[in-house]
Order: sequence, then C-alpha cells, then structure tokens
Amino acid sequence: MKTQVYAHRGASGYAPENTIAAFRRAIDMGADGIELDVHLSRDGRLVVIHDETVDRTSNGRGYVRDKTLKELRELDFSFGVDGFAGEKIPTLEEVYALLTPTGLKINVEIKSDIVLYPGIESALVELQKQAGMAGRILYSSFNHYSLRTLRSFDPGCKIGLLYSGILADPWVYAKYMDANALHPQFRALLMPGLFENCLKEGLELNVWTVNTPEYLEKCIGAGCTAVITNYPDVARGIRDRMGA
Ligand code: G3P
Ligand code: MG
Repeated sequence: MKTQVYAHRGASGYAPENTIAAFRRAIDMGADGIELDVHLSRDGRLVVIHDETVDRTSNGRGYVRDKTLKELRELDFSFGVDGFAGEKIPTLEEVYALLTPTGLKINVEIKSDIVLYPGIESALVELQKQAGMAGRILYSSFNHYSLRTLRSFDPGCKIGLLYSGILADPWVYAKYMDANALHPQFRALLMPGLFENCLKEGLELNVWTVNTPEYLEKCIGAGCTAVITNYPDVARGIRDRMGA
C-alpha cells in the first residue's frame, strides 16, 4: 500500500498551524489525512492547538487550561502570517465538521504529557460518537497512559504510540500495549529492523515530522504507512515521482 501523506498541524508550512486555514489548505493539496493536537479549555472544550499556552501562536498569553473557550476565541491565531489575520483557535468539533464530507483521515494527538487534562479521553470518545467519526480517527500521544484510558472508553479505537527517542525493539512494546501503530521521530527509521518488524507484527509505521525531500524519499522508499509533514504537496510530489 502506498505511503499516506498526513498534514502536520494542517499544511503548516503554508498557513498558521492548527487553524482551519491550515486544514483547508491540506485538503486542497490532496493530503490523505490530517494530524492535529488537542487540549482542554477551562470549561472542558476540546480545542486544537499545539502548546500548553497560547503565547507562541496567538496575540495572547497564558495557559489553555486557564481560559474558557470564549476567552480563547477572542485571540488572533494568525501568528503574524500575512493573509491570515483573525484566524481563530478551532474546536475539535469544528475540524470534524470540516473533514466529515472529505475522505480524509484524522490523527488526533492528545497533548496530555505536560498538563494531564483529566477527562480529556472521555471527552474525545463522546465527541467522536456525536460527530460520527468512529473508524476515521487514529489517536496518538506521548502519554501512553492516556491512550490506555481512551481504550477503556472505546475498546475498538485505533492508537499510535508516539516517541521521540530511539527505542530498542519498540514493536515488542507496541504489541504489549495492543497498539495499532508506532509513531517514531523520523531519525528512528534508520535503526535496524524497525520497518520489517512493524510489517511482520501488523503495525502501522507513521513517521514524524518529515519535512526534507531527503527524508521524505527515505520514508516513502522504505514503505512507511504514513509520513506526517508540514508540506503535503511536496510529499505527494515525491510519492508520485517515486511511483511508490
Ligand atoms: O504527531 C506527530 C508530531 O506532531 C508529534 O510532535 O510536537 O509536533 O506535536 P509535535
Ligand atoms: Mg502533534
């Protein structure tokens, strides 16, 4: 099967990350899926943003967990990029509504590894049901307890184990966790046996964040299940050229 192209935080190489503009651009560029990051607001709403604070990506300051959705919505998330003034923080519900009519898959990264966000897993399962998204979502997290909690609410949900270091034999751990996928950082692909063992164990291998042509070629050439990239158009171009 050909390597899938997931737009990292949307097409974040071209539009402010994790905004509706970035997700629209990913759809227009023909991405197969979208990766996004979720946190919980003070009033328990699932919001799409990468950091625990709004400081880097908006004109505001402070923690997401300390602000209500209304307060978050007052901020500008254009990140100073021309042409995107007024871009707001999206709710996960809005992103699901945008993606529902498309065939795109969604990789929801649960950002519960710094702020723990008690209740985030049940909120995700509830929203998935309401939005009719079951089967289209792959959940990932650096907090693997969060993924286990998610499974306790939805035993059938797909989970991918995010990690950033170089683990020895991570496919053994993935089987122990009953995971569907490993999500290594792109340099881990150079470690011996990773691809072959994932294939043997029936695990997806979804690699992040692959932004250079050199590594896109390596990952696609190796037959990774997916590359997660800021430049979905470039990844698609390379995939087409390689005939992979
Ligand atoms: O899910 C892949 C990647 O997004 C993980 O790292 O920090 O970009 O969310 P980060
Ligand atoms: Mg992420």
